Amino acid sequence: MTQAALESPAEGGETAATSRRFLVYRGDSNDGQMVEYSVPTLEGMVVLDAMHWIQAHVDGDLAVRWNCKAAKCGSCSAEVNGTPRLMCKTRVDVIVGDIWVQPMKAFPLIKDLVTDVQWNYEVNREIPPFTPPADVPSPWRVQQQDVERLFEFRKCIECFLCQDVCHILRDKNEKARYYGPRFMVRQAYLDMHPMDVRDRTGQIKDESGIGMCNITKCCTDVCPEHIHITDNAIIPLKERVVDEYFDPLLWAARRIRGRRQKKRPSSR
Ligand code: SF4
Ligand code: SF4
Ligand code: FES
Repeated sequence: MTQAALESPAEGGETAATSRRFLVYRGDSNDGQMVEYSVPTLEGMVVLDAMHWIQAHVDGDLAVRWNCKAAKCGSCSAEVNGTPRLMCKTRVDVIVGDIWVQPMKAFPLIKDLVTDVQWNYEVNREIPPFTPPADVPSPWRVQQQDVERLFEFRKCIECFLCQDVCHILRDKNEKARYYGPRFMVRQAYLDMHPMDVRDRTGQIKDESGIGMCNITKCCTDVCPEHIHITDNAIIPLKERVVDEYFDPLLWAARRIRGRRQKKRPSSR
């Protein structure tokens, strides 16, 4: 949005709207405060536009991470009036009253609205990559229902809003024991992929800490891609862990076989 668009009536009769009061966190990990800004608004304006207006006209050193302004890069995550949101997808005109903009709480603060999300990439590296069978020739044939189920998980834009809202990471800071909902989505994608032959249930149970999730569904509520994180990823993974480790009949069968059965492709 240009300065001219904010200051003068737009072509076609649209008029400049009133100003809105923003309270934006300014500071670093040592010290900070909420700073008040009055920002002129136009119809369709999003919170990221307001941050850009502040950068252009008041405080050029306001730190904001963004890239696409199209809700696809996952960079502009922040907390708007206490809720984790993409700033580029949050319209100003749907918010009543003052607009509070703060950095994600679950990750270390770098400056202003920019947090250090490096931990997420470290978790990602702990998850073994897609592992197809060596003895199945391509092209693979995959059932349509598998394609549709996996497509939902592939929509993730790695905004980490779900990680930010999850109380295990946010309030208890149990990052050493729980991978968080984003990585339950990734593990569900891999574990449910019919051409992935790696047995992942042990890592899902132990290193991932899936037992810590108590299905509050807060992660699902904030996902901008509307991925059903709890219903379609976490709960099925929990069921697989229960089947494999806590079902007495399956446990006895494994003891008789002497080893865990390796997963095989369901369709070829
Ligand atoms: S459902 Fe589980 S992963 Fe999602 S926010 Fe709640 S505790 Fe965290
Ligand atoms: S699952 Fe949703 S909220 Fe979590 S990182 Fe992916 S897109 Fe963002
Ligand atoms: S700027 Fe890319 S998701 Fe908001």
